[in-house]
Amino acid sequence: MHRPIYLDCHATTPLDPLVLAAMLPYFTESFGNPASNTHSYGWEAAAAVEQSRAAIAQAIHADPSEIIFTSGATEANNLAIKGVAEASLAKGRHLVTVVTEHSAVLDPCRYLETLGFEVTRLPVQGDGLLELAQLEAALREDTVLVSVMAANNEIGVVQAIAQIGALCRQRHILFHTDAAQAIGKIPLDVEAMNISLMSLTAHKVYGPKGIGALYVSRRNPRVQLVPQLHGGGHERGMRSGTLYPPQIVGFARAVTLALAHRAEEAERLVALRDRLYNHLTPLGGILLNGHPTQRLPGNLNLSIEGVEGQALLLALQPAMAISSGSACTSAKIEPSHVLRAIGRSEALAYASIRFGLGRTTTPAQIDIVADHLYRSIKALRSRA
Ligand SMILES: Cc1ncc(COP(=O)(O)O)c(C=O)c1O
Repeated sequence: MHRPIYLDCHATTPLDPLVLAAMLPYFTESFGNPASNTHSYGWEAAAAVEQSRAAIAQAIHADPSEIIFTSGATEANNLAIKGVAEASLAKGRHLVTVVTEHSAVLDPCRYLETLGFEVTRLPVQGDGLLELAQLEAALREDTVLVSVMAANNEIGVVQAIAQIGALCRQRHILFHTDAAQAIGKIPLDVEAMNISLMSLTAHKVYGPKGIGALYVSRRNPRVQLVPQLHGGGHERGMRSGTLYPPQIVGFARAVTLALAHRAEEAERLVALRDRLYNHLTPLGGILLNGHPTQRLPGNLNLSIEGVEGQALLLALQPAMAISSGSACTSAKIEPSHVLRAIGRSEALAYASIRFGLGRTTTPAQIDIVADHLYRSIKALRSRA
């Protein structure tokens, strides 16, 4: 049986076999607990964890002591947002974020509101970019954190992180960025970009699921954080829980591999993505969502005029694994909040497709998908 062509790399990516090979010994022979400091099993595991920490730190220009391992970007976002809010009560209770953030940022912010914090959610422009003047105007004396994602998981838009960082630095406000979709795909430098906290995850860059990290700056400024998981005091007290060496080793290997090939892979993906888009545009009524160039290389998000969302998905699903412009929230299908935020109507948001191209995507696959899409859209429109 043919499996659908996988074009959902923003949801997750397949584990790279080289990553798996690096992980395997840490499940079996090197199974020690990195916190066991009385024997070689523990030392071996601890050495692997520290090497991985150093590799991840190097990838973002941080110091190894600034990396806290978590179960992924959701936990990292929660630790950053709630941890900073709780630690900064003396300064204020105001946070600034953006309407197009992932729910792992929006929901912790909503939770903080129930505790009496105030959250400003900034709109984005039609191209998905945040307007810096609006951010500047939103900053206050009592603002304790600005959280703006590096790259959007739906429309791939890459925000002006360095400028946002510079602005926050100038106003002495901590800056957090959710870089779950960005790591290994676009250059990230916490020092040059003035980033105080950054959330990472492994499974969007061909690493294992269930592992990520929070970068927490220890130098100008040294970020104060209240831990959200209490226990054995692992990770310098910031995140208790036995470390998981196979996942951590895999995470570091995945990031290192992605960075080693980043520029060529970006060029290849942009060419494939443009090939898909250019094949469809002669149909007319194919609207590109998000900024045309300030976006992730492997992202294409399109709204298709003149077709019904559900019918479009049904026509495409057997051939390709893609994501639609809707999300399932508590069993109710809702139009994407990101597409609505950039001004798409509800109907158009439903009639949208997110393509996430990745390392396994080939030109032959893109041609099959492009042809199938072209014919499906034509057929659906003629029936309408
Ligand atoms: C932008 C963004 N933030 C956070 C997450 C959550 O990451 P994780 O699956 O590691 O918890 C995702 C992935 O779905 C994402 O795309």
